[in-house]
Amino acid sequence: MTQPSAFPPTRRMFLEHLAGVGGTPLLLAGMSALGFGIEARAAAPPPLTGGAKGKSVVILGAGVAGLTSAYELSKAGYHVTLLEARDRVGGRSYSARKGVRQKELGGEEQVCDFDDGYYINCGPWRIPYWHRGYLHYARTLGVGVELFNNDNDHSYIQFDKGSGPLAGKPIRKQEVAADVRGYAAEILAKQINQGALDETMSKGDRELFLSYLRNEGYLTGKDFKYIGTEGRGPEINPGAGLNPPVDSKPHPLSDLLQSRTWATLQSVAGYDQQRTMFEPIGGMDQLPFAFARHLGPIIRKGHVVEKISQTPDKVTVAYKDAKGQHGTVVADYCIAAIPLSVLKTIDMQVSPAFKQAMSGVSYALVGKIGIQMKRRFWEEDHAIYGGHVYYDDPMIGSISLPSTGWLGKKGVVLGYYQFGSPAAQVSAKSHKDRLALAVAAGQKVFPQYAENAEKSFSIAWHRVPFNMGGWAEWSDEGRKTAYPLLNEPDGRIYLAGEHLSYLTGWQEGGIESAWQQIGKIHKRVNA
Ligand code: ALA
Repeated sequence: MTQPSAFPPTRRMFLEHLAGVGGTPLLLAGMSALGFGIEARAAAPPPLTGGAKGKSVVILGAGVAGLTSAYELSKAGYHVTLLEARDRVGGRSYSARKGVRQKELGGEEQVCDFDDGYYINCGPWRIPYWHRGYLHYARTLGVGVELFNNDNDHSYIQFDKGSGPLAGKPIRKQEVAADVRGYAAEILAKQINQGALDETMSKGDRELFLSYLRNEGYLTGKDFKYIGTEGRGPEINPGAGLNPPVDSKPHPLSDLLQSRTWATLQSVAGYDQQRTMFEPIGGMDQLPFAFARHLGPIIRKGHVVEKISQTPDKVTVAYKDAKGQHGTVVADYCIAAIPLSVLKTIDMQVSPAFKQAMSGVSYALVGKIGIQMKRRFWEEDHAIYGGHVYYDDPMIGSISLPSTGWLGKKGVVLGYYQFGSPAAQVSAKSHKDRLALAVAAGQKVFPQYAENAEKSFSIAWHRVPFNMGGWAEWSDEGRKTAYPLLNEPDGRIYLAGEHLSYLTGWQEGGIESAWQQIGKIHKRVNA
């Protein structure tokens, strides 16, 4: 475990620490607390009424922000061209399934060979219930969603770096949650009963607080004792016949404290991690595919942008297509919905201040691996349906069980999800070695892991061409200086994407950013 002395000198270190102790979900709760993701503000696209006045817009990048822009502007009557470098739409909203190919920069090509119908969402994978922009399009474009289980009490915590008898083995989260809650409530209640709050709290409030503690910790008797609770899972389950269920006994408090497993308990309490969460049925690429069906020939795949220039009247985008042919698109406006990690490397005619601002953000190093398992042993043998196994090895982060295909034959498990320097380290390995690392970790939690792992697909987003990072990470300084500048157009060039939102790392950020920018263009056209 990262030593407490290692944080919090920088925000990145703090986040890496959270990832180390509590896996991905705790990291994300921390990101939220630091303002990486706050409330989605808009519920619907801006009404683009008043006509397009014959204007044209060239949009760069068919990720969710580019697709949203193209869909709304073309519906409103604009002449839209959407250039996409790859031979597919979706950007990071990407699912690996049979036949999908991916070559990382300087790496080997992988061809996904999962069985038909199985996939892993390599980028975004869960949708908070309050991401109304995403849900608006899922609803209106007919993309079905299913629940994503982001918090599974029956899942395991595997903390190898703690100490004591609970370290180094899988412990059910429900046991840790019930026991630390119970003990904390008991200790507080004892203090109150010994007069600790007599000076500072009225008698009435003390009594109410004691009632709350009894309720919170399932405390019993006059001495407010925690003796365990059914919610931590019984020793013997209830069933038919004469034998009653048998309660389990709480872990000793000292064992729990030393194990540090308690560090996971705030992991999915953050606003953007709370139940209820969704995922699109059939994979995260389903929404991009639905947009693409509506946009048809507006999207020109295999067009790599080489240069963006502008005059007071027009924008010209020079590209090279998949056949190596060079060409240009001339339009009244441009929306560059390309990650800044890539856009800043493109020859672009904008002011020096704008150019400098584009370099004012860093991009997350992120790694994931999907492992197809021959059978759903986590369901069949462990009664775990979705959710995350918390791991305190930052090279693993967390292992997540699929929230799709319940009770089916096979399933694709997310074998690791790391960030920052662990992601950089793992991404330096071959795909085979990445799999070996993931399987060795999974085997500690599930004895069935290695024998069932049959196929895999790994991704390191910071090494993926046309992405070069998982998501934008703004410093406080960058938010104050570069961010406002990039939210405004430079001449006729507008930017859009998750990087231009307070919802970085979420598709919702891309959608709401697109809504904001198309609203601005439309206002200008109709001024
Ligand atoms: N929003 C991303 C996730 O849920 C970072 O993992």
